[in-house]
Amino acid sequence: MAQDVATALSMSMPEVLKAFGEYLFSHLKARHPAIVDSFNSFADLIISIDKVIHVEVAKLYHEPNLPEIDAKIIEDGFILMRYNSKRQLCMCAEGLIFGAAAHYGVDAKLNHAQCMHDGFDSCLIEIKYETPHG
Ligand code: HEM
Repeated sequence: MAQDVATALSMSMPEVLKAFGEYLFSHLKARHPAIVDSFNSFADLIISIDKVIHVEVAKLYHEPNLPEIDAKIIEDGFILMRYNSKRQLCMCAEGLIFGAAAHYGVDAKLNHAQCMHDGFDSCLIEIKYETPHG
């Protein structure tokens, strides 16, 4: 579906995901400012999605559908994220990562190294990011 949107708008997939993810992230931020503001960097937020952000979300919503996300900083500027969900919304995860990057003024590049849509148990998303001014 995202690919259809990209084709219709003559945009590349990353451009569509960025636009959608930035919109979705700013919506979540407007709804839950205290949660988003509690992180002072892109990396800090990304590694806290599963154990902090979605834990808070689970307290606020009735039976939410949340993915399992495990994100680790491998080295400065490189995070490896494992994503698993019955809903297989990894494209949505990519969009939200771009949205979070935009929020912190970080330049992020993603590589979907393995994908549930290709039959894997979980997705692996490599996140390379550069913080402005070093
Ligand atoms: C880059 C950061 C984030 C990523 C990668 C992420 C990832 C996701 C994904 C992929 C889903 C879709 C459900 C699924 O895959 O099964 C989801 C659902 C959701 N997330 Fe996050 N998330 C992020 C940040 C946040 C933040 C900051 C909030 C709010 C403060 C939030 C609140 C929610 C809510 C409310 C849902 C929907 C639950 C439902 O449909 O029942 N997420 N998240």
